[in-house]
Amino acid sequence: MAKADYVVKLGGSAITHKGTPFSANAEHMRRLAKEIAGAAGKKIIIVYGGGSFGHAAAIKHLSGGRISTPSGIAEVRAAMLALTNELTREFVAEGVPVFAFAPSSSLVFGGGGSIRFGKATLEAVAKALEGGLVPAMGGDIILDRGGGARILSGDTIARMLGIRFSAKTLAFGTDVDGVVGASGVIRAISRTELPTVIKMAGGRSGDVTGAMAGKLAAVRDYLSRGGREALIFNACKPGVLARVLAGSHEGTIIK
Ligand SMILES: Nc1ncnc2c1ncn2[C@@H]1O[C@H](COP(=O)(O)OP(=O)(O)OP(=O)(O)O)[C@@H](O)[C@H]1O
Ligand SMILES: [Mg+2]
Repeated sequence: MAKADYVVKLGGSAITHKGTPFSANAEHMRRLAKEIAGAAGKKIIIVYGGGSFGHAAAIKHLSGGRISTPSGIAEVRAAMLALTNELTREFVAEGVPVFAFAPSSSLVFGGGGSIRFGKATLEAVAKALEGGLVPAMGGDIILDRGGGARILSGDTIARMLGIRFSAKTLAFGTDVDGVVGASGVIRAISRTELPTVIKMAGGRSGDVTGAMAGKLAAVRDYLSRGGREALIFNACKPGVLARVLAGSHEGTIIK
């Protein structure tokens, strides 16, 4: 199986205006694309969050963690397709050969409610990496048994891809400088400290996948499945992603 140097999750908080429904942040998309284009030769998988597209659509229809009406499911899928279009257009214009996959048609349910990528998708992602493309996937809606659907966060997709493609670093770009504790940004968190930090971290109004607490839970699952290290960095500040892709420790490192 092909390997990735980095799985980078670009938070919806960075690539959209999270306070304004269905509003892409084209300026941030273009700048982040330039920083990725500058990391030539690195194998990078991009995951992106729902931001003001996915979360805004999902919040109207979610009930008990599920969406159970066909119209609600279709609306969330349409919102993520719209965001995918915006991101693809900006990245391609900046010279990043992004190749968007749809998790909603790439993941299957295994036993006990677990979820995994279909073999064909993993093979296609591997081929994309080998061919110099930048595979990309957004948070999405996944059809469940019984006609309903569940939201799968970009954070979870990122940690799944990080494991499958043996990423050196799983990096989460968001709109804060890292995990904020009582005395500011926490520079490093060990896996043994993580459960305590998750209890301290919070959500965010309008966010259906747990905001920072949800992200840290994804990091916990990543490390417990053999992942090496995760970073949480500020993708709204110019240059930080470029430094992450050059191997620098930005924001909070968790290992
Ligand atoms: N201890 C904490 N440290 C830092 N941020 C925190 C903390 N607790 C809660 N948060 C919130 O988590 C937010 C980041 O998570 P959020 O899910 O909104 O971003 P994202 O993952 O980039 O966006 P998306 O979910 O759309 O991809 C911060 O803006 C902040 O409001
Ligand atoms: Mg989030």
